[in-house]
Amino acid sequence: MDKSLDKSRILAEMGLKPVWRLRQPPVSAPHATQDAEAAIEPVAASPVDRAISAAQATSAPVESSPVAATQQRSGIAGLDWDGLASTVSACRACGLCEKRKQAVLGVGDRQADWMFVGEGPGAEEDERGEPFVGQAGKLLDAMLEAASLKRGENVYITNAVKCRPPGNRTPEAIEIATCRPYLERQIELVQPKLLIALGRPAAQILLGRELSIASARRKVHRYAIGDIPVVVTYHPAYLLRTLPDKAKAWEDLCFAMDQIALAG
Ligand code: URA
Repeated sequence: MDKSLDKSRILAEMGLKPVWRLRQPPVSAPHATQDAEAAIEPVAASPVDRAISAAQATSAPVESSPVAATQQRSGIAGLDWDGLASTVSACRACGLCEKRKQAVLGVGDRQADWMFVGEGPGAEEDERGEPFVGQAGKLLDAMLEAASLKRGENVYITNAVKCRPPGNRTPEAIEIATCRPYLERQIELVQPKLLIALGRPAAQILLGRELSIASARRKVHRYAIGDIPVVVTYHPAYLLRTLPDKAKAWEDLCFAMDQIALAG
């Protein structure tokens, strides 16, 4: 199929016609470096850290005491991919394990430059064991294709929590915090050039602070462990409900492409 026709169809499907083009070649983004400087934030004592401490202090229904949580974190830090996969599939560290069919670790190229982090598996992901395979996933795939990317080829996709929150609710801070060591280990193993946070929960766990997508877009943030650039954009499920913001998501993807180009 003619590539340009194909791309045009994808952009139409994303609701992005007329076709968006970069006004200047990648590597422009002069504001990116300034924003990068301004956006560096420590991850210590983030809202999720506070949430996990509070829950532990009030004996919330999480199997971990503060000591167990520390052990869990340090054990996970040394795992290879196989160890991580088996630990995640057997994980019972928070209440999400009760209703899941299976834990969903992630999918794609384990040495990818691009790493996308969503919120948590939905019903189809829980069924199939792969992130972003439902409607939101179809949109994500279309967005990837529009950026000449493909699931599994230089792209790794995962979620902030590995088990489906019942009824597809937003994962709670304690659940995200409990699952964080798995995400941290995945990032450490993949060592991406760029992290893309899809939606607020993913952005908050990666940046360790509360934020709004509107204020965090179009800036280069830093994931403190490894000093990896982070770009924040809307969650595809939100975009399916809010069509006008698809154009902003495309801008964010173009901005992300600039950052990858800058990273060399
Ligand atoms: N939404 C997410 O955040 N992740 C998925 O895997 C599917 C839908």
